[in-house]
Amino acid sequence: MKAVTSRYLVTGGAGYVGGTVARHLVEAGHEVTVLDDLSTGFAEGVPAGAEFIEGRIQDAAKWLDGSYGGVLHFAAFSQVGESVAKPEKYWENNVGGTMALLAAMRTAGVRKLVFSSTAATYGEPESVPITESARTAPTSPYGASKLAVDHMIGGECAAHGLAAVSLRYFNVAGAYGACGERHDPESHLVPLVLEVALGRREAINVYGDDYPTPDGTCVRDYIHVADLAEAHLLALDAMTPGEHLVCNLGNGNGFSVREVVETVRRVTGHPVPEVIAARRPGDPAVLVASAETARERLGWHPSRPDLADIVRDAWAFTQERERGRA
Ligand SMILES: NC(=O)c1ccc[n+]([C@@H]2O[C@H](COP(=O)([O-])OP(=O)(O)OC[C@H]3O[C@@H](n4cnc5c(N)ncnc54)[C@H](O)[C@@H]3O)[C@@H](O)[C@H]2O)c1
Repeated sequence: MKAVTSRYLVTGGAGYVGGTVARHLVEAGHEVTVLDDLSTGFAEGVPAGAEFIEGRIQDAAKWLDGSYGGVLHFAAFSQVGESVAKPEKYWENNVGGTMALLAAMRTAGVRKLVFSSTAATYGEPESVPITESARTAPTSPYGASKLAVDHMIGGECAAHGLAAVSLRYFNVAGAYGACGERHDPESHLVPLVLEVALGRREAINVYGDDYPTPDGTCVRDYIHVADLAEAHLLALDAMTPGEHLVCNLGNGNGFSVREVVETVRRVTGHPVPEVIAARRPGDPAVLVASAETARERLGWHPSRPDLADIVRDAWAFTQERERGRA
């Protein structure tokens, strides 16, 4: 029997995570339209087989109509440091943009939404692993903007019968073929360490080695972008009208900054010099997810939890990109 397919709008589908999910949707036989303004994404990140509209979510009403079975919403700014320096940029895009998108969905009668939320909505955790019922106290305008959107979506479900899932990602890493990480500036650990292995950076800064963790460096929960993508497809089938489901997505395994650096050395065979720098304000010692809700409600089981596999796929993407630059 042929699986039921649908038409989906993927906002931010020229970016790292949105592009990977769009590719999974195409591979599953769905019809995909990517809406992206290329502010931080790349046209070549839109997967083959997807339609591409270059435009802003703020104008989503121009394109959204009742032919869409749902929206997967990735479009946002996501640099924590920049959000502290320019909070208004984050409120305008992440919150204002989503408000316009929700209004367009209401008008068009599109009643399914998957939203990219983040572990940054929790801020400093009171205990780990972090569950969805943990206190939300974001420490940056970025995290606050994502939490505000989660609240908006909750209201939309309760008042207007939207079916929605907010997926709170922990540290996304790895690559899926040509879909890999290329933020500018890059702030995520795995691609930064790989740039050192490649010789494009001299050393990796380790921000603090005196945390109360086994090796003194911060511990984070790394999740393979392909595992993350699979959760989005499962979410589309698990949602019900009027309910806003919030699920953490992580492996429940923490790896320290030192373990990541060590794994990159092992996988790439290149030396990676480290420089110990001062702690960054607002960097908690340990951020690890409890993904029990995703397992129970979505039936999600990450199949690539090994850090070496995550790094290997990211390294293959990085080398391919480097060949493209030559
Ligand atoms: N990468 C992670 O580790 C991580 C962790 C937690 C949450 N998230 C969230 O996941 C989503 C995707 O992250 P990413 O790492 O792929 O980032 P990305 O910057 O690669 O992708 C975001 C995409 O959205 C587009 N965009 C931004 N504003 C837009 C607008 N107003 N209209 C249309 N397009 C717009 C950008 O051009 C880009 O292609 C973001 O919402 C981010 O907050 C990412």
